[in-house]
Amino acid sequence: MCGIVGYVGDKNCVPIIIEGLKRLEYRGYDSAGIAVLNNGNSIILKNKGKVSFLEKSVEQAGLSAHIGIGHTRWATHGIPNELNAHPHCNTDQSLMLIHNGIIENYQVLKTMLKKSGIKFLSDTDSEVIPHLIDSFLKKGHDLFEAVRFALNEVEGTYGIAVIYTKEPNKIVCAKKGSPLVIGIGENGHYIASDVNALIAHTKQVVYLEDGEIAEIFADRFSAKTIEDEDIQKEIIELTMSLDEIDRGGYQTFMLKEIMEQPESVRNSMRGRLIFEEGTAKLGGLESVLDRLSHSKRIIISACGTSWHAGLVGEYMFEQFLRIPTEVEYASELRYRNPIINEGDTIFFISQSGETADTLAAMKEAKRKGALCLAICNVVGSSIARESDGGVYIHAGPEIGVASTKAFTGQLTVLALITILLARRKDMSLADGKALYNEFIQIPEKIQKILSLNEKIETIAEEFKDSKNFLYLGRGYNFPVALEGALKLKEISYIHAEGYPAAEMKHGPIALVDENMPVVFIAPKDSTYDKIISNIEEIKARKGRIIAIASEHDTEIDKLVDFTIKIPDTIRMLMPILTVVPLQLLAYHIAMKKGLNVDQPRNLAKSVTVE
Ligand code: G6P
Repeated sequence: MCGIVGYVGDKNCVPIIIEGLKRLEYRGYDSAGIAVLNNGNSIILKNKGKVSFLEKSVEQAGLSAHIGIGHTRWATHGIPNELNAHPHCNTDQSLMLIHNGIIENYQVLKTMLKKSGIKFLSDTDSEVIPHLIDSFLKKGHDLFEAVRFALNEVEGTYGIAVIYTKEPNKIVCAKKGSPLVIGIGENGHYIASDVNALIAHTKQVVYLEDGEIAEIFADRFSAKTIEDEDIQKEIIELTMSLDEIDRGGYQTFMLKEIMEQPESVRNSMRGRLIFEEGTAKLGGLESVLDRLSHSKRIIISACGTSWHAGLVGEYMFEQFLRIPTEVEYASELRYRNPIINEGDTIFFISQSGETADTLAAMKEAKRKGALCLAICNVVGSSIARESDGGVYIHAGPEIGVASTKAFTGQLTVLALITILLARRKDMSLADGKALYNEFIQIPEKIQKILSLNEKIETIAEEFKDSKNFLYLGRGYNFPVALEGALKLKEISYIHAEGYPAAEMKHGPIALVDENMPVVFIAPKDSTYDKIISNIEEIKARKGRIIAIASEHDTEIDKLVDFTIKIPDTIRMLMPILTVVPLQLLAYHIAMKKGLNVDQPRNLAKSVTVE
């Protein structure tokens, strides 16, 4: 969740760190800090709030150095304030540390350290680590060894970076459960919690794995396990470019990412659909295809928006593959001692590929012998690397905290997997080709929906002061109702609930009056007549209705207050279209309320703590 950046080398580290933190601010943004070493002295600046505040203090202080570390925080232990902001240090401020993750045994360690006379300045779990490292430095170990020994006493998760006045030419960093990547530059090395912070400087990176510790110097780096085994790390060449992580002229990342969807969905399917064979080709599944096709049961596990994508996947798999499919929150799966049988396949869906619960659920499922496959956006992420195989979404970097293009990319990939497996089972060549024809029209149809942006903005104006919202859909569009409600909640702070439309009668209808906006996802499909009855029921109770409807449906206009008309497609692909107007509706409502949609309060893009 927090962002970590560090640099050691020929250049001034301060602008590199500030720029890197800004690129990571989407991960956490309630406080920020920087520590540098200069002529044997340590300097720390930190503040509550944004990196831009830190940037000002850095400028005022005229800070400049060749080695430093920086942090942008998403609070877990201790409120967001200056004292709890990172870096944290040992008593004489010779050692400075930034940490992402949670130290689970920090109370025990803190009590022990307090007994030896150490005073703590913050309420964080992180502050125990510099003191613990210091206790090993005092026993005569060098920094690398002191960090290694300290980490052997720590339980929980961490991505850390440490600098030390007495060894001023190196950064020591380590990882367990929180991502950390080393960037290799010319006469300089970088560390970061994600590659977005490095991409402006280098494309050559090395991913640390759990239980690994490294020291980086201006001209080299080396790594070991925390059990002291030497390891050789592979250098990976990144393919993403800096343009992909800029706003590209849009006011917000979220709008840019919504508008990018025709292209991002095209990228998700690019080169993967084969017309002649009416099927899909997915390289990352080839080695496991037989096992996957013969799965007796499929489980899809994820968190947040990715979990909603999983629910759509369940409808796809059950309709076309006739394989029993269950969708489970990763946080529940990991602690439930799940019954995993031979022949079970588990798909883990994650935009970031770093969500702590999803990663832990995957490790648990692997331990129990399931085939574990990943659907991730971030290439080289922990979940992708841990999996037995999988499919990248290729939606490009998603920076806005509320997920948009990653969701439509996940649905695209789930549909590709469905076609691939269905064609190995019962689906005929003709049906495969028909599906192909529908599929390739999706980007254009999204484009058509995006052209309704202004109309949707007008609708948003009507509803921006509402206190509650209800989203209703059936079948494939039930998960879309959940996702629509989540988008609104996340960025506008309006309470919103998603429900299967029929369930509305079992409770939510009690809330309906003239102040309750109800969004119906009502394309002309096999459940259309039923949903029209539900619309009538809301209308009879004076609810204000917005309907996402098929473009040729003229009847529905007579029943509802506002319609957003979208192109038709087959049921399985419909959610890729129906979600788009809901993203725009949430976006415009939040913007009209003057809120920061890219960095909504209390949220983080990548939840790397449980
Ligand atoms: C956070 C993000 C959501 C995301 C969820 C799962 O809550 O704010 O947008 O859906 O994590 O993240 P993942 O990266 O695993 O898809």
